[in-house]
Amino acid sequence: MTDQRTPSETDPIAAAAQRLAQADRIVVLTGAGVSQESGIPTFRHALSGLWAQYDPTQLATPEAFRATPKLVWDFYQFRRDLMRPAEPNAGHRALARLQELRPHVILITQNIDDLHERAGSTAIIRLHGSIWRTRCSADCDRRRTPLDLRDCIEDAGGVPRCPACGALVRPDVVWFHEALPEEALAAAFAAAHTCSVMLVVGTSGLVTPAALLPEIARTSGATVIEVNPQPSALTQQVDLWLQGTAAQILPRLVSQLEGAP
Ligand code: OAD
Repeated sequence: MTDQRTPSETDPIAAAAQRLAQADRIVVLTGAGVSQESGIPTFRHALSGLWAQYDPTQLATPEAFRATPKLVWDFYQFRRDLMRPAEPNAGHRALARLQELRPHVILITQNIDDLHERAGSTAIIRLHGSIWRTRCSADCDRRRTPLDLRDCIEDAGGVPRCPACGALVRPDVVWFHEALPEEALAAAFAAAHTCSVMLVVGTSGLVTPAALLPEIARTSGATVIEVNPQPSALTQQVDLWLQGTAAQILPRLVSQLEGAP
């Protein structure tokens, strides 16, 4: 007896590639998992060394910054030090290639590193800001402008101060209990509503509003494909779960689109 099924019926990666090849609008949503193989620990991964005693979800808040600004500033310096040597991995590169191969691929990321950009991705919607930018923490006219730390005022407390108003400066990232940048969020919702495939890579699906995007895509008629080595809060609702890491799965997936019409 021979197996009459086509490769896309037996191989989930082939099935996913087929959906991507047919899609006119693709949205990719990434989380910390896509950078894990670049050596950046995921957000819920236990911290090492001195920082092991802290819960990152408690430090990444405006309340923590108000109460202990130096601690939070140092936490972000520690995270910058972790990220500085990181290079894009095969997963980031495959997503950049996907954007070259298919028209209308929008990349939405929750990550605050810059590895997608450095892999060559374009049309990136950043939901949670960038760890490489710094801004004034007060409502001064420099609030929306990234600050160059060399222009900031040194402070005895160890956290630089805004050159315009003297308030503390902070990383330009979104913390828990804070709203996401309006424009980015509106663009992400619009993209989720109108895509025909959403590829969700390396996110636990625990943090809203980003975690709502796959559900919006699904209820708007899109196919939702997840890449994650572990089941996430989203796995039950996706159409296809490609179990494995970003660097393992994405190059295989995208290579199947090379030469697709
Ligand atoms: P999490 O740390 O919550 O989840 C990481 C996900 O990546 C998990 O589901 C892992 O199973 C998966 N994963 C781990 N290694 C992987 C790999 N090599 N390839 C693919 N997947 C892998 O990170 P996020 O979902 O991004 O927000 O967290 C969302 C937000 O929570 C973050 O952006 C951060 C945090 O609060 C802010 O900083 C505002």
